[in-house]
Amino acid sequence: QKAPVTVTVTGAAGQIGYALLFRIASGQMLGADTPVRLRLLEIPQGVKAAEGTAMELDDCAFPLLQSIDITDDARVGFEGANVALLVGARPRSAGMERGDLLEANGGIFKPQGEAINAVAADDVRVLVVGNPANTNALIAQQHAPDVPAERFTAMTRLDHNRALSQLAQKTGTGVSEIQGLTIWGNHSATQYPDVFHATVAGKPVTDLVDEAWLTSTFIPTVAKRGAAIIEARGASSAASAANAAVDHVRDWVLGTPEGSWTSAAIVSDGSYGVPEGLISSFPVTSAGGAWEIVQGLEVGDFSRERIDASVAELSEERDAVRELGLI
Ligand code: NAI
Repeated sequence: QKAPVTVTVTGAAGQIGYALLFRIASGQMLGADTPVRLRLLEIPQGVKAAEGTAMELDDCAFPLLQSIDITDDARVGFEGANVALLVGARPRSAGMERGDLLEANGGIFKPQGEAINAVAADDVRVLVVGNPANTNALIAQQHAPDVPAERFTAMTRLDHNRALSQLAQKTGTGVSEIQGLTIWGNHSATQYPDVFHATVAGKPVTDLVDEAWLTSTFIPTVAKRGAAIIEARGASSAASAANAAVDHVRDWVLGTPEGSWTSAAIVSDGSYGVPEGLISSFPVTSAGGAWEIVQGLEVGDFSRERIDASVAELSEERDAVRELGLI
């Protein structure tokens, strides 16, 4: 067995938390050889429900689960964290302006970034799930100057998985036959799911689908899938979001399979014209515990326009949080 890994989950009493914790504790995220110590961070009103979830975790008798600590204090919650999943966030309520939303989330992600900086383990890896995920990740990162910037990431893996599934259904294949799909930009309605380098069972996707399907069906279906789930389920995506978080962290820590890539929002080094420092979704591989942007992909006009639009939105969000003094 490997050394135990401390995993902090914020928003642990929420619906994603409920779908996520059992998968982490069972070994699906870090591997069947890695014991886990869970730290659950909630707001005071969420602590009792988190205690209930912890009782159920106990009742699973997971062999890998060494401990569960529950707190409403970020300095306690992130103590020694090797992996931090920032799920809890302030949702947009009816009539809320973007500035208000960013400000409310700044009030969460600024102190959490500071706490991570102060008490997390030296190798801490952070995945932000709570929306607006990319900008929340940027806020936390900016308040953790001692943590390498690339350790703060945001989740676009759910969008990636949604795109895989839509493409598999359209082409009548299994998801495992599909390679080379990318989500670019922001985890928002402007995200761009790019199939121009994708293959299905070795065949270029561009031989199998036409541009009209991409523009009128595929891209909007992937980008608006979250809203479609709410409409159908009466609640937002939870199990699929938890699954994507498990996928993201597993690939980050254990590596992506040889010859394939996935999507994650990571800090830009300027690749593909994305301004340096923005946390934007890219095609990525992982090895040795670090993400790397897949280089050298040709970006045609169709893709360029859409990547630029989503990245422009990220730049605007960054400007807005700067103006609010949040970074
Ligand atoms: P939820 O409302 O069921 O749970 C959120 C939990 O976070 C609540 O228990 C709340 O008490 C807690 N919380 C709020 N502020 C906190 C703080 N400062 N510290 C610790 N905990 C805090 O929400 P759900 O469905 O679990 O979703 C969580 C977030 O994930 C939302 O922001 C949602 O928009 C986002 N999301 C992101 C996706 C992605 O692909 N990136 C996909 C689906 C959801």
